[in-house]
Amino acid sequence: MIQKSMENKQFKQLENDGYFVLKNSVSNKIIKLIQKSINSNLLDLIKKKNKKSLAYNFELCLKKFNQHYIQKYLATKLFNENHIQKLLNEKKVLKYLVELLGPDLEYLSNSELAINVSGVKDKYFVKKYHQEVWSGVSPASILIWLPIYLKKGMSTLEIIPGSHHWGVIPNMNREPTKLPKKHKKINLNINTGSILLMSPFTLHKTIPNFHKEPRFAMPITIRNFYYPQKGNEDLWEFRKLKESVYSKLRKKLGNNLFTPYRTIDINQK
Ligand SMILES: [Fe+2]
Repeated sequence: MIQKSMENKQFKQLENDGYFVLKNSVSNKIIKLIQKSINSNLLDLIKKKNKKSLAYNFELCLKKFNQHYIQKYLATKLFNENHIQKLLNEKKVLKYLVELLGPDLEYLSNSELAINVSGVKDKYFVKKYHQEVWSGVSPASILIWLPIYLKKGMSTLEIIPGSHHWGVIPNMNREPTKLPKKHKKINLNINTGSILLMSPFTLHKTIPNFHKEPRFAMPITIRNFYYPQKGNEDLWEFRKLKESVYSKLRKKLGNNLFTPYRTIDINQK
């Protein structure tokens, strides 16, 4: 009963504010797995072996490769090593996703890590206010933002609560050209082990990081594969996360004509 009212409160917040934080939904084990994968893939990139921190190895990597390449490389490894799948299968995470989007889910598997390095000003990395619908995310999708390496004093995101009610905000060169004069903004308060769930219409931006170490986070797009595609999904790669009984039956029957006895020998005694 308590659980139910908590869910209602969070879904109400998603409805009203365009986001909510699903607290303590990712186990320490998964976070450690993800951090370990990032660190060992950084070491692979720089062809080194050491026991230094993820932040230290990232700095070394940045001397050899550009940030965009590193972000993409590390995320591809996280997807291919199935860590994102494991994270989305965490009991509480999957339960909420099914509740929000239904039992037929897929996730975008060619996105990249978001690394926030102190002093970087490039607006590709330190994003101005934006809505994910600008980049082709379908209106019915849900965005997840997972903090991976977030120490005390590191920055997160700034969000405009209720901005998902404004529709598609006029924009140019990755920032809004017009915003209501009066609006509220919040500094996202989140800890490692929790995730942010957000509407693709919710305006948010990167808060510059002044911590000496870089902050690592992973944005993940989730959609129901039966919902109409209204974005750029046809150009992207999605992997199935969960299938309903009906989807499993479709798969078993094997084609859209539901041809009879396709794999069954009816003369077998
Ligand atoms: Fe974003």
